[in-house]
Amino acid sequence: MDSWEKLKSECSGCDRCSLCKTRQNLVFGDGNENAEVLFIGEGPGEQEDIQGVPFVGPAGKLFDSMMQMIDLDRSKVYIANIVKCRPPHNRDPLNIEQAACSEWLKRQIALIDPKIIVCLGRISAQALIRNDFRITKDHGVWYRYNDKPIMATYHPSALLRDVTKRPDAFMDLRAIRKEIRSICNRTYD
Ligand code: URA
Repeated sequence: MDSWEKLKSECSGCDRCSLCKTRQNLVFGDGNENAEVLFIGEGPGEQEDIQGVPFVGPAGKLFDSMMQMIDLDRSKVYIANIVKCRPPHNRDPLNIEQAACSEWLKRQIALIDPKIIVCLGRISAQALIRNDFRITKDHGVWYRYNDKPIMATYHPSALLRDVTKRPDAFMDLRAIRKEIRSICNRTYD
C-alpha cells in the first residue's frame, strides 16, 4: 500500500528526466494532505526552485489572494504541480518531462483522494482534462477526472500579465466555492 512517507522518499531523489540536473530543489507539494480540494499548477518557478515550496513567488502571492477571496488558505487545500522540478528559464515543461513526472502526481492524487480538482493554467488542464484544452474558451467548465469534478482556471502568472482576465478568473473562483459548498464536508467548517 502506498503512503506519503514512501512516496516522498521515492520522489525525493528523482532523476527520471533532465530537469533534475538543473534544479536546486524538487518541489513536491504543499498544504493539507487530507484536503478535499486539490490545486494543480504547471511547474516550479525561480522562487519555488530556491525554496522547495510551490507558489511562493509573485504568482504565488496572487494565488494566496485568490484563495482568500473564496475563504481558503493553504491549510485547507493541497497544491501540486504537473512537473516537480523547474524548467530552465520557466519554459513550458516538455511532454517527455510531464510523462516522466506523472507517476508522482497520480500517487499524490490517489493519497489525497480529493473531492474537487482545480487546474491552474493550460499546461495542467491539457495534462489532466484534454490535450487540446483551450484556457480562454474552456476555463470555468466542470469536467471529470476519474469521476471527480475538475475545472481549469487561469494561471496566476497569466493574471499578473493580463489583468483583463481577472473578472473571468473571479467568476471561476465563485463557481469553485459553490461546488465546494455543495459537495465537500470539511473545507468550510
Ligand atoms: N507556477 C506554477 O505553475 N507552479 C508553481 O509552483 C509556481 C509557479
